[in-house]
Amino acid sequence: MPVGRRAVLGTGTAAVFIAGVAPGPDAAAGETRGEATVATVTVELHVNGASHRLTLDPRTTLLDALREHLALTGSKKGCDHGQCGACTVLLDGRRINACLTLAVLHDGQPVTTIEGLADGETLHPLQAAFIEHDGFQCGYCTSGQICSAAGMLEESRAGMPSFVTADLAEPQPPLTDDEIRERMSGNICRCAAYPNIVAAIRKAAEIRA
Ligand code: FES
Ligand code: FES
Repeated sequence: MPVGRRAVLGTGTAAVFIAGVAPGPDAAAGETRGEATVATVTVELHVNGASHRLTLDPRTTLLDALREHLALTGSKKGCDHGQCGACTVLLDGRRINACLTLAVLHDGQPVTTIEGLADGETLHPLQAAFIEHDGFQCGYCTSGQICSAAGMLEESRAGMPSFVTADLAEPQPPLTDDEIRERMSGNICRCAAYPNIVAAIRKAAEIRA
């Protein structure tokens, strides 16, 4: 759909954005908020092994869908701008900032949140290592740290280099503390529990090596 500057100014960018996103999942009739009718879409989210059919304002971020619609509040909203990592979840095994993506873009894709990492009563090795190494203080960043570390360890095992990898020809660069710090640099901890976070991730990496 061609979108001119005049149309954007006339209708507002959000309304144009809705028109652009709506064709993906089933378009629903809409919901009324005050005077305005807001278009809605239906999306099937697969979260922690369970399927959820949601009717959403298409502007709903994945983070808000998880927190506000599915009551999965383990993923935190720190900055809502992709700068803190508190909202990190795994999308098909890869870490993403849930605040930076729309729920409607992930129809049918497997999402794992902190609530889905443990195996029943058995904690994920990263969860156990964070407890053992005291890798948190207030805990606000912790679910994002752990989900991010889970994705990061898979990246490392797959041989993906980082900015501090010395030898790019190395098939599997060793996961040094510098590598862990660099690879986790998108996850901010305002309590500065970084030394213990690194120790916990190192421990989990050793367990699963
Ligand atoms: S809340 Fe998503 S990166 Fe901060
Ligand atoms: S433990 Fe408080 S922000 Fe990280």
